[in-house]
Amino acid sequence: KIKIVTIGGGSSYTPELIEGFIKRSAELPIREIWLVDIEEGKEKLEIVGNLAKRMVEKAGLDWQIHLTLDREEALKGADFVTTQFRVGFLDARIKDERIPFENGLLGQETNGPGGMLKAFRTIPVILSIVEDMKRLCPDAWLVNFTNPAGMVTEAVLKYGKYEKVVGLCNVPVNHMMSESKLLGKDASELFFHFAGLNHFVWHKVYDNKGNDITGEVAAKVISEEEAGVANIEVMHFLQDQLDHLGMIPCYYHRYYYLQDDMLQKGLESYKNEGTRGEVVKRVEEELFELYKNPDLKDKPTQLEKRGGAYYSDAACELINSIHNDKKILMVVNTRNNGTIDDLPYDCAIETTAYITASGPRPLNFGKFPTAQRGYIQIMKAMEELTIEAAVTGDYKIALEAFITNPLVPGSTIGKKVLDELLIAHKKYLPQF
Ligand code: NAD
Ligand code: G6P
Ligand code: MN
Ligand code: MN
Repeated sequence: KIKIVTIGGGSSYTPELIEGFIKRSAELPIREIWLVDIEEGKEKLEIVGNLAKRMVEKAGLDWQIHLTLDREEALKGADFVTTQFRVGFLDARIKDERIPFENGLLGQETNGPGGMLKAFRTIPVILSIVEDMKRLCPDAWLVNFTNPAGMVTEAVLKYGKYEKVVGLCNVPVNHMMSESKLLGKDASELFFHFAGLNHFVWHKVYDNKGNDITGEVAAKVISEEEAGVANIEVMHFLQDQLDHLGMIPCYYHRYYYLQDDMLQKGLESYKNEGTRGEVVKRVEEELFELYKNPDLKDKPTQLEKRGGAYYSDAACELINSIHNDKKILMVVNTRNNGTIDDLPYDCAIETTAYITASGPRPLNFGKFPTAQRGYIQIMKAMEELTIEAAVTGDYKIALEAFITNPLVPGSTIGKKVLDELLIAHKKYLPQF
């Protein structure tokens, strides 16, 4: 029987994770689940942990649910470790989003200027978790959702030298669900091939006769009011660009391909309702009020107001497929190893892969057309520099990473925003 550890257990997403495990209880022999948090997250951990216990009890399962602030105690002998923590909490995210907006730029808390600072705060913590894992549960799989999920996965592989790591995101899941629905088909009747980087992934769609139907799906996506994810403004790519790309970009591509319009819309909502981080704070308050109710024994529907809906479910599916060697196809962040010919072998990519007992086995993709190749190479360079800056604390590398990011229009403004962010986050950046 297996032991699962979730770091950042106080997250409001945890009930979804528990629901995902309960759904798979016939296949996944769980003995214990440890929810780990830190002192500042104690209250959230308590509330969400008690809901988790009620859910498991209602399902009639004998799993032990442990709530703890002692990470080492939790990690001992673990089989799977999932990570969903936020260094600096939502207040740090609000700064990641607000400071760029105040300077007339998009913050984008995962792969824009904000996300680069999130990487600086997060990577030292994930590397210390990996060091603990090497001592306390050296055979465990690390399933990471902590953003920027692609960069965090790459840091674990390259600098943590830990092989058994998989990064996950709910964006591909949302694309597959909504596009199947648009076509009036079940996802199992279609074949989706994803390739790219986390939050910068493109995909193709095929029907079960072997036809490439990407163009048809793209036209539907653009003409219907597809929902996307709750945290990203709905905005449509140009039909002419989609025709030429021959692949469907992901929701996060809007920040790049539609940077001008997204900035305008972003500044508008910043003025009216504050940053997304502030909106999420209000959603969280509502969620934790619900979670406190001792009569609540299920995941509430209000959780769908969070952009990450379904991501925990993907984690449970992944763990199930590794544990039972199911070899199902999923979209994951893993080492490139030649899957995408345009990128270094040792970097992390987001790709469709078979999920086996020995980890993800990506489907070969090959070379991108010119337009995607150019953009993905600059984004990967930005990621590599960001990771290196996070590990070394080298200011010059951090600045170069900023100047490389296409959301930063020049080095004068880039340096200003970087410096303001470094000061604002000083407490969580001991390496700088
Ligand atoms: P959150 O603000 O609720 O943080 C989760 C928990 O992490 C909190 O209870 C907090 O106390 C705890 N925490 C903070 N620092 C910690 C540390 N050093 N060690 C252990 N725990 C710590 O965050 P959230 O909104 O639930 O999101 C959690 C993380 O998951 C974020 O990094 C977010 O970007 C990411 N996320 C990723 C996806 C995806 O698609 N991969 C989807 C949703 C969320
Ligand atoms: C999802 C992304 C996640 C991200 C989340 C933000 O679409 O895949 O990586 O963390 O949205 O949602 P939130 O509710 O926190 O704004
Ligand atoms: Mn994501
Ligand atoms: Mn529309």
